[in-house]
Amino acid sequence: MDDLFARNRAWAERMRARDPEFFSRLARQQAPRLLWIGCADSRVPANQLLDLDPGTVFVHRNIANLVVHTDINMLSVLQFAVEALQVEHVVVCGHYGCGGVRAAMADRQLGLIDNWLRHIKDVYDQHGAELAEIADPGRREDRLVELNVLHQTLHVARSTVVQNAWARGRRLEVHGWVYSIADGLLRDLGYRVRRPEEIGAVYRMVGEGIT
Ligand code: CO
Repeated sequence: MDDLFARNRAWAERMRARDPEFFSRLARQQAPRLLWIGCADSRVPANQLLDLDPGTVFVHRNIANLVVHTDINMLSVLQFAVEALQVEHVVVCGHYGCGGVRAAMADRQLGLIDNWLRHIKDVYDQHGAELAEIADPGRREDRLVELNVLHQTLHVARSTVVQNAWARGRRLEVHGWVYSIADGLLRDLGYRVRRPEEIGAVYRMVGEGIT
């Protein structure tokens, strides 16, 4: 573990050599333009794969990049990012080869985590017909990774936090991306939610005092 502190000291030194004001500037404030909701998988580190320095991305990660509307942790991150940091973009980024998605497709209990992965099983069930038509198991899994991103993107957009930001006239876009561990490349899945009209009538709510 000592090695980690040595690495940290060397990194901080390199950053200071490149930009002497870097840390003192960050210490005063953060101004990220983007909220990243991604998988906790160690191979999908948001800042690193975007090649962005500290201070540029507000990050929330959990297993299989889920946006569960009762998750107070995710909701707090979302509210802070949208209302305090005023980010204009929220990205939900899944990744191919996601162990969470793979486990959700299988029928073996793994423990507590099964109750978290159940949210992916719901997506699997909802798109069962489309997925059953994909003969190749790898391709089927990749497709569920993409569909999971689609649903989580919608979950972000359906939150009261996002709906209220839109009602206040704020520009706020939710994007669905996928990352490939195999080549290090991001792909925009084209899932983009920008307006209340795009979240489904059932989910639309008008806040008190917001018209
Ligand atoms: Co994953």
